[in-house]
Amino acid sequence: MALREIVTVGDDILRKRSREVAVVDDRIRMLLDDMEDTMRLDNRGVGLAAVQVGVLKRIFICDVGDGTGLHTFINPEILEKKGTVLSEEGCLSVPGKSGMVERPEFVRIRALDRHGDPFEMKAEGYLAICICHEYDHLDGILFTDKLVEENKTVE
Ligand code: NI
Repeated sequence: MALREIVTVGDDILRKRSREVAVVDDRIRMLLDDMEDTMRLDNRGVGLAAVQVGVLKRIFICDVGDGTGLHTFINPEILEKKGTVLSEEGCLSVPGKSGMVERPEFVRIRALDRHGDPFEMKAEGYLAICICHEYDHLDGILFTDKLVEENKTVE
C-alpha cells in the first residue's frame, strides 16, 4: 500500500469523464488500497474518487465514520434518489474551500465491489451525500459547481 498524490483544482483531469473498469483485477485492488491510505492519512477525507489520484476510472470509496466502514464502488450507477438536503461540503481536490450544496437525502446505488461482484445498497444521510459527491467526480463535476453558498475556510 502506498500514498498517492492528490490532484487539485486547476488540473484538467478533474473535469474529464472517468471510464468504466473492464476487469476488477489485482491492479485495481492495489489502486483501491492506495486510495484508502491516501484518504485516511491524517483523517483528512471521508471519500475519494480515482480521478483525484489521477486515474480516470469509475471508482470511488467512502467511509463517513458511521460505523459501516469502508464502501467501495466500481462502475457505480445511481438507481434512485429521494428528498433534498443541504450539506456543507469540502473536497481534498479543492483545498481551503467549503460550501453548501443540495443533495438527495436517500440514494439507491448499484456497483461492483473489490472482487468484481455486483451489489446494490441503500444509503441515507451523510453517506448518501458522500456517495453523490464522489459520483459527481466520475463525470468531472466538483461540489463548487453546485454551490448554493460558499464558506471561506482557513487552512
Ligand atoms: Ni471531492
